[in-house]
Amino acid sequence: MKKVGIIGAMELEVEALKGKMELKRKVEKASMEFLEGALEGTEVVVVRSGIGKVNAAVCTQILCDCFQVTHIINTGIAGSLKNEIDIGDIVVSTDVLHHDVDVQVFGYPLGEVPQLGRLSFPTDEHLAQLAVSCCKEANPDISVYRGRIVSGDQFISDKEVKERITKNFQGFCVEMEGASIAHAAYLNHVPFVIIRAISDKADDSAEMDYPAFEKAAAAHSEALVEHMLPRI
Ligand code: ADE
Repeated sequence: MKKVGIIGAMELEVEALKGKMELKRKVEKASMEFLEGALEGTEVVVVRSGIGKVNAAVCTQILCDCFQVTHIINTGIAGSLKNEIDIGDIVVSTDVLHHDVDVQVFGYPLGEVPQLGRLSFPTDEHLAQLAVSCCKEANPDISVYRGRIVSGDQFISDKEVKERITKNFQGFCVEMEGASIAHAAYLNHVPFVIIRAISDKADDSAEMDYPAFEKAAAAHSEALVEHMLPRI
């Protein structure tokens, strides 16, 4: 029986899903509220993890240990790292990495967590392809891209920092949780996908754009997740 864990870092990234689901049980753990029930006929656990990589990793581990989720979807918003990826567009992960890990002094490539044997965490292909096809149906006016998503415990709002991250990792967008969710899902052998709608360009305009567009962007990503659920 499939059971899909759906994580959003902020309330606005999961509030619509919470409002639509048929709630069976609420469980509080690690100061997070896990809502168990059904959405679009699929068993789900919807949770707001809080912002940043530690919150996201703790949340993912709880979904695996206490709810035995079979799939994990992260819905949310991100800063674009490519000129052609505009505010409102959606990025579906191919793979995900930590842009703020640096153990180069011991010979590891920038971004690689030591002793894991890999730089990035690969997305489940079925979930990713489903996300792309559902996006074309759910949001025909929005462009959908597949590419690498990079995460770190920083909000990126500086052109030079953006350029450095883009040059180092060839990411399509940047956010603050995806790599931890991917990392924890990978360790637990649970298939995952990260879906992010663009709220800003991760440069000097981000401070202005983010508050203006976060709500609409979060809604795009949530609508897509809802469309995917019955088809997983
Ligand atoms: N989430 C949305 N925009 C972001 C940015 N510019 N940097 C990090 N996380 C984000």
